[in-house]
Amino acid sequence: MNVIWRVSAYLFRYRVLFVLTLVLAVGMTLLAIAVPRVIQWIFNDMIAAGDYRDLWLGVALMVALYAGRELCNCFRIRINNTVEQKVLLDLRGDLHDKLLHLPVGFYDRRKSGEIASRVIEDVQAVERALLDGTEQGLTAVLMIVGIITMLFMMEPMLAWLVIAPMPVLLVLGWLHARATRRYWKTVREAAGELNSLLVEDIQGNRLIHSFALKDRERRRFREQAERLRDRTLKAMFRWSLHSPASNFISSLGTVAVVGMGGYLMISADHFKLGDVVAFFFYAAMLYEPIGRINNLNHMLAAAAASGRRVFEILDHPLDVQSPPDPKPFPSDPLLEARFENISFAYPDRDEVIEELDLTLPAGRMTALVGHTGAGKSTIANLLLRYYDVTQGAVRINGIDVREMDLTDLRRQIGYVAQDPFLFDGTVEENLRLARPDASLDEIEGALRGACAWEFVAQLPGGIAASIGEKGIRLSMGEKQRLTIARVLLKNPRMVILDEATASVDTATERGIQEALDNLMRDRTLLVIAHRLSTVRKADQIVVLDHGRIVERGDHTQLCESGGPYAALWRYQHDFIPERVN
Ligand SMILES: Nc1ncnc2c1ncn2[C@@H]1O[C@H](COP(=O)(O)OP(=O)(O)O)[C@@H](O)[C@H]1O
Ligand SMILES: [Mg+2]
Repeated sequence: MNVIWRVSAYLFRYRVLFVLTLVLAVGMTLLAIAVPRVIQWIFNDMIAAGDYRDLWLGVALMVALYAGRELCNCFRIRINNTVEQKVLLDLRGDLHDKLLHLPVGFYDRRKSGEIASRVIEDVQAVERALLDGTEQGLTAVLMIVGIITMLFMMEPMLAWLVIAPMPVLLVLGWLHARATRRYWKTVREAAGELNSLLVEDIQGNRLIHSFALKDRERRRFREQAERLRDRTLKAMFRWSLHSPASNFISSLGTVAVVGMGGYLMISADHFKLGDVVAFFFYAAMLYEPIGRINNLNHMLAAAAASGRRVFEILDHPLDVQSPPDPKPFPSDPLLEARFENISFAYPDRDEVIEELDLTLPAGRMTALVGHTGAGKSTIANLLLRYYDVTQGAVRINGIDVREMDLTDLRRQIGYVAQDPFLFDGTVEENLRLARPDASLDEIEGALRGACAWEFVAQLPGGIAASIGEKGIRLSMGEKQRLTIARVLLKNPRMVILDEATASVDTATERGIQEALDNLMRDRTLLVIAHRLSTVRKADQIVVLDHGRIVERGDHTQLCESGGPYAALWRYQHDFIPERVN
């Protein structure tokens, strides 16, 4: 319920429009309730009296009531939808904003499809329930109360008979809603499983071919599809009981009008044909809102669940965020980074970095090597403040990264991540992310520097070629070169390359190396690499193992000392000869 209040706050911004839809909905209801009274009047005072002079007046009044009702409806729909879309936009905007600000760690533990469905579907469900729920609940109650009042004003005895089925209908509806909810839940589960099976079959298409798994997959699919069919039928059969039963009970109300109404007409003077007809109309209008009220309950429960998923994101703490009063990023021409006695653990994991001290000297190249899982990428993440250290501090020119503005920090550091990410769009658009105002010459220069110019020139359209979602139309090595070009174009004072050339061949890598040597002169460079030939020329090589530094020095020193680096170098040198310069 708390959740419902919070969505109400969004609705409250458009309170004038919101109240207007309610007023219109109430107006519609009142007009609808008025119609049978006019019919009663026509029958009793004109037809029964054999006086048709005023008949046209009664008919015109009915037309006016119906027209008025639908006019209200027209405006109600428009205003209702306007409020709905405005609230949706606000909520989605806030969610998206929050998603942009959430720390990297938030995404480690969630599926992207699931987050997307919160922004698109859950937002809609919660907002709909609130807006339509209020409107429908209000009009249903008003309708029921209004009609019952009318009935009692006209003839209490018959009124009792007409409302007698109501409690039964309410209870039946409630029972049905409760039962079907359980059934539909199993249907949704079965549909979900069929869905993931299908996705697996599509994605694992090659595997299915290569292992000749067609029969197995066909069987699995059929079983799952049959389960879905059986459960759906079961849920639908419930309706086959509920719908006729409640229709039958409502009909009893109508039967009562005919029977009792007829009896009253004959036995009592004051009860006339017009009264029976009006009762008829009211009885028909009375039972429909009961269904709506039963629905409401279900709608609110679903909305509360959706709302919780929405607010879980909105309320997620921003554990990594800019301080309220950030220090300016150092303006010195050269940057030096220091990791001072840092430790770090991912949430619910053991420490991956333990009491590590490391300096990236200004204007120098530092190489970080070590086995996979040693914590190399983690160190890059800590420098960019994707995560905060659990102990110690990371400083750039003496300023703690936690004291800087986050955007500022990340704008000043060029970062080529281990898994290159490109947006759906053209080569040029992706490069311009680094510097929107770059000239075409500068873009070409960056592409050449990253040894990407040749392959880009061969793409259909050159730099205007569209590269597909996540750059799917490019090979891994090509994607890596584009991300390097992007950093070259950005031209920052500090650069991190995380296995940036792992997927390019040796010749290309050497080309990139040269470009980096030229362009990155007088820049602080952190290169993470698996292939030692890449880092040979580094001013400082740091060997990391299980989050600790086990060795540091330059290539010659480390080779001479005969430690882990020397062993690794010999290993790569001897067994992968083509990879060594
Ligand atoms: N987002 C994450 N959440 C939890 N654990 C992680 C995450 N990223 C990396 N790790 C763990 O931290 C350790 C170091 O990872 P990483 O720094 O990526 O190693 P490297 O880059 O040296 O291969 C690994 O054991 C890995 O399983
Ligand atoms: Mg890594």
